[in-house]
This record gives sequence, C-alpha cells and structure tokens, in this order.
Amino acid sequence: GLGSDMYRQQILDHYKNPRNYGTLEDPTFTHIGENPMCGDEIRMDVELAEDDETIERVAFSGDGCAISQASASMLSGELAGKSIDDLLEMDRDDIVDMLGVDISPMRIKCAVLAEKVAQDGAEIYRGELEKEKTSTED
Ligand code: FES
Ligand code: FES
Repeated sequence: GLGSDMYRQQILDHYKNPRNYGTLEDPTFTHIGENPMCGDEIRMDVELAEDDETIERVAFSGDGCAISQASASMLSGELAGKSIDDLLEMDRDDIVDMLGVDISPMRIKCAVLAEKVAQDGAEIYRGELEKEKTSTED
C-alpha cells in the first residue's frame, strides 16, 4: 500500500543519505559488532551527558545492506535525548516499528544490528563504571 511505499522511500533515503554517519571526536563509549549472518560490521559511537545517562549524540560507521544502514541512521537520531535505560529497553519490535515495514526473519538481524551494537557498548560501559565504583569504595 501507499503507507509502506512511504516507509520504503524513507529507508532508501536514510540509506543514500545516512544521518550521523562517521565517528565522534570524543565518544563516551564506542563498540563494534558484526551481523553473524553476513559479517557486515557496524561501529556505534555514543556520547553521554555528564550524568553518564543521557545520550547526547550518536554516530555510526561501517558497511551493510540498506536495511542495516537505514536502521543505524534512524536509530542514531532517535537515541539523541534518550537515556541509556531507554536504549537497553529497546527490542526488535521497536526497531521494526521505527523502520515501518515488514522485516522478514532473514533480515531481522540486519534491522537490529545497530541497536544490538549500541546496547552491547552500553552494557560494557556500565560494567566499567560499576567496577570503578567498587574499586574506589574498597
Ligand atoms: Fe542475510 Fe542480512 S543477514 S540478508
Ligand atoms: Fe549484512 Fe544486512 S546483509 S547487514
């Protein structure tokens, strides 16, 4: 239908003109991960505010198919202003909603690649913060 044509246009637009493509000068954390199905890699750079919780900006780089690149482009914009908890609570349904098209089971790993990499990076970063806290409490 017309609705999904519009969303397909939007995906193509994000693929051709990716938003926030590149790297951040001073990311709070950065993480690289791959889609195990195809080996495509994405790097996510995330800069947090001083509260170590609010996401100020996100950049992504790497290669992948249109779905993965459009998803990374859209996600990078969506995350600005959100919190790390918001990011960690996201699931595949949120990504499918964001993309606005049906994603076949074959492509779901493409669609959630950027989200997964950002989440893994956030979890690793939180783990490091926890460690720092414990070591200064000792
Ligand atoms: Fe095969 Fe994306 S993993 S199409
Ligand atoms: Fe590799 Fe989609 S085919 S990310």
